[in-house]
Amino acid sequence: MNNKPGQSRQATKFLESGAEVDSFYHLSHSSLEHCYCRGTSCFAAKHTSPERWEMALNQRPPVYCLGKCYASPSSTDTTEEPNIQILSSTGIVLAGVAEGTIRDFVSYRQADGYSALRRSLQMSSNEVVTQLEQSQLRGRGGAGFPAGRKFRSVLDQPGPVKYIVANADEGDHGSYIDRFIIERTPHRLLEAMAIAGHAVGAGSGYIYLRKEYPAAEASLRVAMQEAVQSGVLGEFTVELVIGKGSYVCGEETSLLNSIEHRRPEIRVRPPFPTEHGLFNCPTLVSNVETLVNLPWIITNGGEAYAHLGFSRSRGTKAISLNSLFNRPGLYEIEFGTSLREIVEEIGGGLKKDSIKALMMGGPIVGLAHPSEFDTRLGFEEMRDIGAAVGHGGIVAFDHNTNMLDLLAHLFEFGASESCGKCTPCRHGSRRAQILFRTAQTGTSLSTEGKAELSEILSTMRRTSLCGHGSGLAILAESIQKKFGEDVQSCFG
Ligand SMILES: Cc1cc2nc3c(=O)[nH]c(=O)nc-3n(C[C@H](O)[C@H](O)[C@H](O)COP(=O)(O)O)c2cc1C
Ligand code: SF4
Repeated sequence: MNNKPGQSRQATKFLESGAEVDSFYHLSHSSLEHCYCRGTSCFAAKHTSPERWEMALNQRPPVYCLGKCYASPSSTDTTEEPNIQILSSTGIVLAGVAEGTIRDFVSYRQADGYSALRRSLQMSSNEVVTQLEQSQLRGRGGAGFPAGRKFRSVLDQPGPVKYIVANADEGDHGSYIDRFIIERTPHRLLEAMAIAGHAVGAGSGYIYLRKEYPAAEASLRVAMQEAVQSGVLGEFTVELVIGKGSYVCGEETSLLNSIEHRRPEIRVRPPFPTEHGLFNCPTLVSNVETLVNLPWIITNGGEAYAHLGFSRSRGTKAISLNSLFNRPGLYEIEFGTSLREIVEEIGGGLKKDSIKALMMGGPIVGLAHPSEFDTRLGFEEMRDIGAAVGHGGIVAFDHNTNMLDLLAHLFEFGASESCGKCTPCRHGSRRAQILFRTAQTGTSLSTEGKAELSEILSTMRRTSLCGHGSGLAILAESIQKKFGEDVQSCFG
């Protein structure tokens, strides 16, 4: 990797090797051959193939979420491909993904690819950012932060060196959206990054891709080579960094530390990456799905984008459904679709049994109860029922899942993924996991044990440094509130 102008001397030193921090990761030295997935979608489907789940539990190191949640319990040998469909009035992020026909440079160009980049280069940076602001696009990585505001904030930063970072870590269990966008439309991501670079004044970008997605890596490497050979990105350069199996590296500041070969702990904010990001330079960190909206917005205008969707959630959203559904797969829908429509019409209900709960947004958000299924998909609407849009990965649980087992599973994951920077999460997640495990053996927690658990969760929710610790607590409290009958042995 070349050193970039503007890098500090210290950053240069860290860039030389990452070996010092390899022990942080699960998959530093592991190949992914014949690995069984231990993610939550596979947990939800474990009764459909107990022997596969057993293999996953016994595997060392564990592998969490291979992005094959449509075929859970899955392994790296699972070759099935999901159903992919556009159900929104306009296909934006999944356009071409279902067909898989615009993967290579020539086909992408023939389908009008890279014309939005050319158009954006005829606009000023301010004009591009204004279009984004008008689109009301919000980040698809989980937090729903207004994209235009983030772009404006990086554009407003002084300095000759800025970076674009595409977050392709997609760690949320149940989510395989970014995976297929990258595998089947890699040039759209490259085009979007170059547009973003022009918008904020960044000359180079990084893509941080999870190791668990080897086909996406292969597709991207070919596309990057084609882009360089054709010169289509102009002066804009892109580097690919492959993760080593850490959920918390999806958090933007941990991700930046990982790219810099530092120990990937969360950074204290402020300052935010928009001011002091990669190599201490202003940096735009955006999720893959957020970014691939850019070519459409530049081509059709921000206002046209804002006409799609509903409430304060404009545009379309990709969702992915897990294997328990009759029609698992990847769908582009418009915001405003109700959870009931997603479950019953899009997913076709569950294959066996009725639905007990929905998880959207991985292990760090609350669950949705069937009584809440009339809620329409939107950032505020989901927040109001104690759930989240998250990344769009949807894991349905049937009545084979006991919520105490789910808590033990998620806190085992959460504790092993904690970056360790703050005490509430580092100690709290592990201690809570032990308490859930104790209750799992059939022993109700003592009055003191229940009080301790409540205090741990409350402290994690209020004082954790990042959404990992607070989100685990929110999830547990949501289960206590909505599925109390399963967890009486732990709470109140
Ligand atoms: C524990 C944790 C894990 C995260 N993992 C991801 C991830 O895998 N992919 C992602 O895009 N954002 C992830 N995020 C959110 C990022 O920190 C960040 O908000 C996002 O990349 C910003 O992009 P956006 O504005 O386009 O949503 C995670 C956040 C937390 C707290
Ligand atoms: S909440 Fe957990 S993951 Fe986040 S900074 Fe604290 S220890 Fe690290």
